[in-house]
Amino acid sequence: MDINDLYDQNYVPYSKKASVAVVRSKSGKWFPGVRIENICYPLSISATQNALFYCLSEGHQPADLFTDEINVSMIPSWEKEFGFTAYPLDKDKLQNITFDNPVLDSDINKRKKLKQLLDLAVVGESDFPVSAIVETEQGYFTGVNIECTSWNMGLCAERVAIAKALTFSSENLISLEIHTRKGEFSSPCGACRQVIIEHLPKKQIHLHHADDSESIHFSEDLLPHSFSSSSLSNR
Ligand code: THU
Repeated sequence: MDINDLYDQNYVPYSKKASVAVVRSKSGKWFPGVRIENICYPLSISATQNALFYCLSEGHQPADLFTDEINVSMIPSWEKEFGFTAYPLDKDKLQNITFDNPVLDSDINKRKKLKQLLDLAVVGESDFPVSAIVETEQGYFTGVNIECTSWNMGLCAERVAIAKALTFSSENLISLEIHTRKGEFSSPCGACRQVIIEHLPKKQIHLHHADDSESIHFSEDLLPHSFSSSSLSNR
């Protein structure tokens, strides 16, 4: 995958305006992000947040951000928080960069992986790590929660995982696994449920609880009467 391919990975059925961001970590690795919209517009994930949080969720520190969305108002706060510098994206200058695909083999032990992932969560505010794994036709994509001192600028583990899966996979998402060891019952928040239903309609959501039990729910059962409107979808 190169930078031009990323424009096709955008999920922008409402605005039709694709954008791309890439992060170079302090270790020299590149992390891409695309825009992932939601029918509830405020739940949309900018390409910038997607790239930045992908980098952080893999345990890397961002050094430079190149983005089509240089005017996104949250960028200065994230710069201060995570210590990187933001630049406008110049596609021609970034033609030669390549991205590792973070997909995991389908034969991983999901419960074990969910537990290991908790160590990557950035939870300076809550000390409440959450992990998530999205299954796709290609394999599994992971996510952890990323917190900021301004709480509304962070993102839940489920949304980090979904954004990563959509950035790298063109197939439909198949299922989602969620785990936290601190809450007795692992359960996605309301905002995540609205995002889950958009990308995993009628799919199984596996909740891995602290006592090692698991419950399986259809996405619709987790959010009856979710927000939808034919006047918004796929304009
Ligand atoms: N959190 C998640 O990652 N997923 C959820 O569905 C519920 C909450 C995170 C967000 C924040 O980092 C911490 O848990 C406390 O709200």
